[in-house]
Amino acid sequence: MATPRIAAVKGMNDLLPEQAPLWQKLEGTARRIAALYGFEEVRTPLVESTSLFVRGIGGETDVVGKEMYTFDDRGGESLSLRPEGTAGAVRAYVEHSRHAVDPIQKWFYLGPMFRHEAPQKGRYRQFFQFGAELFGVAEPRADVDLIALVVRFVRELGVSGLVLHLSSLGDEESRPAYREALVRHFSPHAARLSETDRRRLEKNPLRLLDSKDETVKALAEGAPSTLDYLSPASRAHFDEVLRGLDALGIDYEVDPKIVRGLDYYTRTTFELVATSGLGAQSTLAGGGRYDRMVEELGGPATPAIGFSMGLERLALLLEASGPALRRGPDLFLGVLGDEPGRTAQRVAERCRDRGCTVELTLKSGGVAKQMKRADRLGARFSAIIGDGERASGRVKLKTLATGEEREIALADLVEVVGAARETDGGQR
Ligand code: HAM
Repeated sequence: MATPRIAAVKGMNDLLPEQAPLWQKLEGTARRIAALYGFEEVRTPLVESTSLFVRGIGGETDVVGKEMYTFDDRGGESLSLRPEGTAGAVRAYVEHSRHAVDPIQKWFYLGPMFRHEAPQKGRYRQFFQFGAELFGVAEPRADVDLIALVVRFVRELGVSGLVLHLSSLGDEESRPAYREALVRHFSPHAARLSETDRRRLEKNPLRLLDSKDETVKALAEGAPSTLDYLSPASRAHFDEVLRGLDALGIDYEVDPKIVRGLDYYTRTTFELVATSGLGAQSTLAGGGRYDRMVEELGGPATPAIGFSMGLERLALLLEASGPALRRGPDLFLGVLGDEPGRTAQRVAERCRDRGCTVELTLKSGGVAKQMKRADRLGARFSAIIGDGERASGRVKLKTLATGEEREIALADLVEVVGAARETDGGQR
């Protein structure tokens, strides 16, 4: 009987070599665009104290209440795999007193997040985010700069069919009135609500807008709009963000129905939504201001704004261009025999010294088999070294794309392959 196999954890994906070039392009572009806006990389742990997420994100949210991977470590401390990156970034900002270094900190991150959700297309239990957090600026210009970064990133990658949705949740001055309006709207239907939603109605009615319950969803359709309850300061902030986006020619839709699944937002919230290609999980990115969180986690009052984008969803949108990104080696170097193998290995090393990528035949086999592999890998050139080539010091160099073959001195091989690479930097 065959030994039973162990499968990957449900909702957690392997990234295989065929997909890696696309991901490298996404990550490379993310780093480059982040740098254009002065954002520097931060790497925080994948595991944090559970209390950080409860306090930072909110215990009533689905993300914290239902979806976290939480466990007691061997010392009995409750830890959780991070479901998102903002809480950890804020903890790091506070823990390292970054406000004293420079109150304005602009950070970006790339890495895995974990949520125990029902897996489907675009929704996984481990997923990767590109995110950025900007600390220390309350001015609407910061909101506009951050949104411009997000828009430039997707534009640079050539993703089309995205709509920027924009709203404001107001500030401490706006919140109580909006909260009351929501309570007035939902209270007459309290008897029809689940126990969880009744508790939300009492404790955090904004969360009702995020309920998965069909009754509540229908009621939420007619709920009052947050934009009607903005304080004058929040209204002015929102209007200035809109004017700033207009000035940059960035299109948006004001959409008070944006429901962010995390509790920390104040004022500006936004989402980048795909009009097709992602099915039910159409939100590619989300973000907004969280002006109270640094203080709530023990730091000085520090306004902040950030976003994150799901990279699997981005990869789904770009998948069509994926395989084309894979590049074969500059040289496929075939080998016939042990002696020639040593010569070939030396030649391969010299090619690599010049920065050329070389696939050297490691496993003995016939010429036909080796050439088939050179084709499959999409090599630029191929050459085979056997006893004859070693003795004569000459090899046949084949250009695979055209099938053209020419005989050159073995001693010139490195130079010829290197020169070809230099003409296009390996970007053929
Ligand atoms: P979020 O809206 O929870 O925000 O997630 C941002 C993005 O992560 C989503 O738009 C989606 O693309 C991706 N995402 C979320 N859950 C999953 C999943 N289960 N599978 C695949 N992709 C997923 C945040 O995480 C906030 N930290 C954003 C932020 C930063 N706000 C301020 N700063």
